[in-house]
Amino acid sequence: MARSAEERAGKYLDMGHSEVENHARAQQKVFEKHVGNKENVTRVISEFFKTNLLGFAYHYLRSRFGPRHPYQAYPRNGDSGVYRMQSAQPSSSEVSIALLSDWASDTAESDQVGHLVSSYAPDYTIHMGDIYFVGSPSEVAENFTAPYASWYYGASGSLVLSGNHEMYSNGNAFFTHLLPAMYAKDGDLRKTQQAGFFCLENDYWRIIGLDTGYTSVERPFLEILSPPDCHLRKEQLEWLRDVVKIGDPADKRGIVFLSHHPYFSAFREEYKKPGEQIKALMGDQERVVVWFWGHDHRLVFYHSASNGKGPVAYGRCLGHGGLPVEIRLPSEPGEISKMQLYDRRVRKVVKHHEIGYNGFVMLKLNGPVLTAEYKDLEDTLVAREAWRVDMKNGQINWEMLTFLSELAV
Ligand SMILES: [Fe+2]
Repeated sequence: MARSAEERAGKYLDMGHSEVENHARAQQKVFEKHVGNKENVTRVISEFFKTNLLGFAYHYLRSRFGPRHPYQAYPRNGDSGVYRMQSAQPSSSEVSIALLSDWASDTAESDQVGHLVSSYAPDYTIHMGDIYFVGSPSEVAENFTAPYASWYYGASGSLVLSGNHEMYSNGNAFFTHLLPAMYAKDGDLRKTQQAGFFCLENDYWRIIGLDTGYTSVERPFLEILSPPDCHLRKEQLEWLRDVVKIGDPADKRGIVFLSHHPYFSAFREEYKKPGEQIKALMGDQERVVVWFWGHDHRLVFYHSASNGKGPVAYGRCLGHGGLPVEIRLPSEPGEISKMQLYDRRVRKVVKHHEIGYNGFVMLKLNGPVLTAEYKDLEDTLVAREAWRVDMKNGQINWEMLTFLSELAV
């Protein structure tokens, strides 16, 4: 529904924008111009409330029909999809990676998170899926590729996973508009992202982005009767087996999975199939992994656990990138014990909805230690934790270093 420019600007007045600080790159002027121009934000966060059924139905029906974009897999254009991590500063031994999920909503909040990420200038940025409403070309542009878009492109790489929303428009803009804008650097060579999955690696860690989006959506309406299971397609499994060599018992590097869809959840659907497929490839190895996902619009730290025949994982839900952040407890009281920390702080009340804090996580890799720093949109450090990989046996030791006391479940 169209609103006058004045009404829209008025809505944004109390939402605030962070100033771009310490952003020493070419994007700086563009960001400053954008921050000063609130008209570049096309949506307000209340448009994404789940009660907005008409809005969702409109976007869904507009884009949902027609054939799915063909799947893309490696090798493609000479690319294997495995990239060696590199710091943008040659003198630095640390590599930083910002993970954002369910961020691409083009709201004042997503802008604020995007600008905060830019102020840290991470080496890599990764969007873990869901471009609202349906991942159309204009929505890809507004969030990622237009000159005023607030996505921050890491100097060493910027990569994306698909969520379900990209597939509501059959993945067309994801494959033909978004992937060509994404890349990983190999020295000075810029390698364009060729498929909806990838692996970033160094001597201690492998960070494997999984595509669960392509198989998360069935034919229109059929999916209601037969819910999709987000399985990893044959091409992706072959890549994990033959290129990443996930089953190589001699490779003791720590494993981090990224996916849009939750391996487990205390709140809604969970998808055990990808984990079971991966565990089958890993063979007898009893490796505990770290797994970040989104889809649920909240920040949750789960106790390490497995689902079905999948691996034991330290599961972290990061779906609080840009949409209204949910803060309610699970409807099943028994589910609460799955969680260790859950950010339920109330940021504001919009149309009688209490909503929480948007944010992202910054991974820092330094030798065998992987540190994760969770930041909210106001730049508060919500939590910090670390894993250390033992290169003798591939096991990882975890430690929660600090967290806001309000997060305790
Ligand atoms: Fe999603």
